[in-house]
Amino acid sequence: MKFTVLTLFPEMFSSPLSESMLKRAIETGHIAVDIVDIREYAEGRHKQADDRPYGGGSGMVLMPQPLARALESVKDADGERTERVVLLSPQGARFDQAMAGEFSRVDHLVLVCGRYEGVDERVKELYIEQEVSIGDYVLTGGELAAMVVLDAVARLIPGVLGDPESLREESFCDDLLEYPHYTRPETFEGRKVPDVLLSGHHENIRRWRRKESLKKTALNRPDLLDKKSLSPEDRELLKLAMKELEN
Ligand code: 6GU
Repeated sequence: MKFTVLTLFPEMFSSPLSESMLKRAIETGHIAVDIVDIREYAEGRHKQADDRPYGGGSGMVLMPQPLARALESVKDADGERTERVVLLSPQGARFDQAMAGEFSRVDHLVLVCGRYEGVDERVKELYIEQEVSIGDYVLTGGELAAMVVLDAVARLIPGVLGDPESLREESFCDDLLEYPHYTRPETFEGRKVPDVLLSGHHENIRRWRRKESLKKTALNRPDLLDKKSLSPEDRELLKLAMKELEN
């Protein structure tokens, strides 16, 4: 899968792409990432890529011509590859795990980083298929959001993570938060690992983890429980979990 990121701040991407999972995914050829500097498509001695908004107001708006030329340059030759052009902006639809899954099934994801007050509306109309936000808070630009999307999508591509099992069990694939994890030593600062995890009893371990997932979700993300339909076992475990919380 190919990612292309259009930005006025290409340097912001160098360290996230040169560490850990993304680095490995690029080295092994599972993903390719192209960072395109929008300013290189601007004209004149000053290579101006943003300008003041018509109608007045504060901030700067990304000019249409440099961004349009940059977008034309990254378009695939008409053909088999599926392409998706996404603008990162606080006005976008909320990014979530389902959207990450959808993006992971296209061949070429083009991420446009909005900056300043925004992007000229006409380039949006002409080129942008989807406007995406990573949450209800304001960042100084779309760059960090683009990295979030890139990371969340890349790890869903087969082969990028060593262990595909970890994808099936993790948070949100089941609309629940994850249960607590422990590793050695068995006792740390006087605190023991829960006995059930040392018991080797797989069914009890499964039920304990499910109960802890339901507990964590009820505590931190009750909105997720509200929209989920619970099995009879889930309802039983949730009742147990709520009782434990009272103690
Ligand atoms: Cl995509 N951009 C900006 N500037 N702020 C955000 C965002 C994006 N998502 C959440 N906040």
